[in-house]
Amino acid sequence: MPSYVRAGSVPPKRHTQFRGPGGDLYAEELFSRQGFSSSYALLYHLRAPTATLDVRPWHREDVVFEPNDPLRNRHFQMGVTEGEMPSAGRTALDARTPLMGNADLVIALADFDRPSETFYRNAGGDELIFIHGGAGTLESPFGELAYRAHDFLIVPSGTTYRLQPSEPTRAIVYASAGQIAIPRRFRNDAGQLEEHAPYYERDFRVPTFRDPIDVRGEFEIRVTSRGRNATYVVENHPFDLVGWDGYCYPYAFNVDEYAPITGMLHQPPPVHATFEAPGAAFCAFVPRMVDYHPLAIAVPYNHANVECDEVLYYVSGNFMSRRGISEGSITLHPAGAMHGPQPGAVEASLGRTTTDELAIMVDTFAPLGIARAALAREDAQYFRSWVAKI
Ligand SMILES: [Fe+2]
Repeated sequence: MPSYVRAGSVPPKRHTQFRGPGGDLYAEELFSRQGFSSSYALLYHLRAPTATLDVRPWHREDVVFEPNDPLRNRHFQMGVTEGEMPSAGRTALDARTPLMGNADLVIALADFDRPSETFYRNAGGDELIFIHGGAGTLESPFGELAYRAHDFLIVPSGTTYRLQPSEPTRAIVYASAGQIAIPRRFRNDAGQLEEHAPYYERDFRVPTFRDPIDVRGEFEIRVTSRGRNATYVVENHPFDLVGWDGYCYPYAFNVDEYAPITGMLHQPPPVHATFEAPGAAFCAFVPRMVDYHPLAIAVPYNHANVECDEVLYYVSGNFMSRRGISEGSITLHPAGAMHGPQPGAVEASLGRTTTDELAIMVDTFAPLGIARAALAREDAQYFRSWVAKI
């Protein structure tokens, strides 16, 4: 949860002379969003972050998102086997494979197990990275943020970073065209998390600051910004900070810390909200008590998601309302296509008191297109899974 953080050494007054032991001036950077009108941090580099030796084309393959036509419920079998994350021999950036997207959000999957020498910077919006399994470190100028299974990593637009796995890692990456934030209704006027919020500031982890990397050389940064791409070669290591402070930095939240709100009767998805972004709302369905009215039906009702497309990523548990779904499955239930408990699921749910499911969801308010990488793994009969006898 972004609140004020101060790490390392910063001068007593911003925008003033700040010198190292040898008398050299440190280079101040304002790391801000929406121009100069949103959250920001002040970073103090040993040397100028602007020292650019070369700018080269970064040829990225254009991802074509096909319309969901004919409009139907879809299941993409992106599964993992018995909790083993795939070993892909790739870096996090090379592994990133877009599956669905629209102008507001691109949803990608990444199976990676190799560290990266190259840095990455997405200046087109915030990224939300959910770690299904694996472990490693998100390295950035702000420090090192260790990650583990079930972490959400929130990376502000423009952050220079890289994901360094220590174990094979599966991540689902949501790249927004805007800011990803805690829902407004969970924050009070001071920005603090409300008492009724399903998480608290102490559940959020910030990077551990480390000594500046005092190295000059040639460092590659892959930069992308709303369809424009380049590889920058810079002279000074991007992590040469002596200190920083402010409100804008990567942070982590582990969904196992999410304290779900439950009720006597079925609670709709917005109760399970985690984050929000322009054109998108994120939720988490975590192990919890189910509805406790003596006659409660503990699975969702039938619905057609009018005015939003719903994408669920299934992490673990029994997924009691879904047929044919396994760990790592992704379903797309688009606006207008009816879905709900599959045959027998309502009856099977009666009398249950708990669910052990873990799934994360995003609703997008504009239609999602589907990339070929997803279509290639589609269970094309999924839309028929609500028929009693198949
Ligand atoms: Fe749904």
